[in-house]
Amino acid sequence: MEVIPLGPGFAAEIRGVGLSEVAEHDSAYRAVRAAFEEHSVLVFRDQQVTDTLQVAFSRRFGPLETAKAASRGEGTPFSILTNVEPDGSLVPPGHKEELRARANQLWHTDSCFKIPPALASVLSARTVARTGGETEFVSMRLTWERLPADLRKRLDSAYAWHDYAHSRGKIAPHLASERERATMPAVCWRMRWRNPVNGRDALYIASHTCGIEGMERAEALQLIDELTGLATRPEHVYQHRWRDGDVIMWDNRATLHRGRPWPLDEPRYMIRTTISATDADGLAEMWPQRSAA
Ligand code: OGA
Ligand code: MN
Repeated sequence: MEVIPLGPGFAAEIRGVGLSEVAEHDSAYRAVRAAFEEHSVLVFRDQQVTDTLQVAFSRRFGPLETAKAASRGEGTPFSILTNVEPDGSLVPPGHKEELRARANQLWHTDSCFKIPPALASVLSARTVARTGGETEFVSMRLTWERLPADLRKRLDSAYAWHDYAHSRGKIAPHLASERERATMPAVCWRMRWRNPVNGRDALYIASHTCGIEGMERAEALQLIDELTGLATRPEHVYQHRWRDGDVIMWDNRATLHRGRPWPLDEPRYMIRTTISATDADGLAEMWPQRSAA
């Protein structure tokens, strides 16, 4: 297996090992798992991905999420990100899927609004837009290391609230439906996620972050905006231009990502599987009630 660095201090392409080797062989899984812990974003090119293979690969890393209420793919392990309707037509401007795509274009980490949150996401390109539609990543470990020492110290023992409706509300007031709100109340996590394999810390915030424990709301939102701005400066970004056969896996504990726009008259079809975090992934330290005890 070859690991070729791609981004500014994180992200790598994996060559010589693909999804099927990881699904079938413990040794390939262990090598890719180690690269995942180290590089945070892994790119696999030229994969012959099927739904079954994507699940078999993803399942190696931990339990899979089922797609959330009211999303395409609800109740299955697949989150479908697309502007293509089930009948093959493209969604019109202003359609719910277009608004969702716009919400995905805010810097975020997946499922920080869920219990448990996500360890990793695996995204496969099934139809690539001819222009645009890139996905961008930044390292929240490098962000943590870049913070001024006093701020880092403050955030080290801080807790933040995450709410799916909060990020959707930035795009359209009622984008999160009543059912989505009811099934996903806000959740609270520690703002520093420590990787138990290498001890490296990452700042844990996202577009979904709607408050910080013990801080006035407006002040908290301003701090979150400032931290996101610091994290996502252009020189810190790895931008991925998708090709047919690409699959990317990223560490939701240690990165932010966002989609980029593409022309709405072009189809784009992506399928995501999402792996839940467990205590072995450092989740044990993230619960406010457990850490306080
Ligand atoms: C995701 C996501 C961005 C994209 O799959 O979680 O945010 O470019 N995707 O589709
Ligand atoms: Mn996402």
